[in-house]
Amino acid sequence: MAERKIIAVVGATGAQGGGLVRAIAADPSGGFVARAITRDVGTDKAKALARLGAEVVAADVDDEASLRRAFEGAHGAYCVTFFWAHMSPEKEIAEAGAMARAAKAAGVGHVVWSTLDDTRRWVPLTDDRMPTLMGRYKVPHFDAKAEADHLFTDAGVPTTFLLTSFYWDNLIHFGMGPKPGPDGVLTLTLPMGEARLPGIAAEDSGRGAYGIFKAGAQHIGRTIGISGDQPTGAEMAAAMARALGREVRYQAITPDAYRAFGFPGAEDLGNMFQFYRDFERDFCASRDPATARSLNPSLQTFEQWLAANKTRIPLA
Ligand SMILES: NC(=O)c1ccc[n+]([C@@H]2O[C@H](COP(=O)([O-])OP(=O)(O)OC[C@H]3O[C@@H](n4cnc5c(N)ncnc54)[C@H](OP(=O)(O)O)[C@@H]3O)[C@@H](O)[C@H]2O)c1
Repeated sequence: MAERKIIAVVGATGAQGGGLVRAIAADPSGGFVARAITRDVGTDKAKALARLGAEVVAADVDDEASLRRAFEGAHGAYCVTFFWAHMSPEKEIAEAGAMARAAKAAGVGHVVWSTLDDTRRWVPLTDDRMPTLMGRYKVPHFDAKAEADHLFTDAGVPTTFLLTSFYWDNLIHFGMGPKPGPDGVLTLTLPMGEARLPGIAAEDSGRGAYGIFKAGAQHIGRTIGISGDQPTGAEMAAAMARALGREVRYQAITPDAYRAFGFPGAEDLGNMFQFYRDFERDFCASRDPATARSLNPSLQTFEQWLAANKTRIPLA
């Protein structure tokens, strides 16, 4: 058998990277092998990836030399940053720059960079329909990723720009699931009005990335958006009601009310949902499920994701 090409995966113990490592492992004849990058090779998550056949190596996105070593000899690299670990757009941009330079130095042939849209193209800083945050962003965790796109191009790295979508898994891990209202009825609260929300199973983000690596050179230089489904808030609530066998109500609130929730990142997320809502057509169009399915035939719809994950959604 021909030697398998190495895909170095940043964030391998996390949602996107983990999905990619598992997709590579599930396709042993696909011609690729995963190199899982973690800060600590000794954790249970890291050991689980090793058991799947991945090579597990230590590196930190804040340590460029460690990234260079981790990318050495790799055909491909999956690059993702971790905004919610530090909530600093500047740090996120610096981390992307370190990955781009490391990929160039190591001679990586194909990078997939997990990015998002620059919302300031739609809502300039002078537009006060939503507050400007941290001095020069509308949606910091989006805008910073987009701002970093050129770092890969400037470094001369062959790159595919992957526009990811809202994870359905946020209903489990990010406190966004339905909560009992004052009358006890489960209530899904989103500042989305009647707009559609392009979302995806987190695992399918990684599977989509695998499809891009498999397809190879044709996708270099392209921006590819993926989602699994694009339900409205009301449709999400109805699907949850069917899956859970109990009433689930959708409550549309204003972005201002969401921003005022006060938890860390509430303003960023309030602006994000307002961006989804106000630019629904563009945002949905850039993430066509048909594109995602062509990269990943097992792509899950929201209903399919719910069927597999409904018992994991905290309802209290
Ligand atoms: N939540 C959503 O709906 C959504 C949707 C689209 C995009 N995103 C974006 O996705 C990004 C995060 O990706 P994810 O959800 O796959 O992450 P995740 O599940 O939170 O996993 C992050 C993993 O990254 C590793 N990590 C953290 N800091 C690191 C560092 N300094 N150096 C090396 N590895 C580090 C950790 O691994 P170790 O502990 O093993 O090192 C961790 O397991 C964020 O920037 C977010 O904006 C999120």
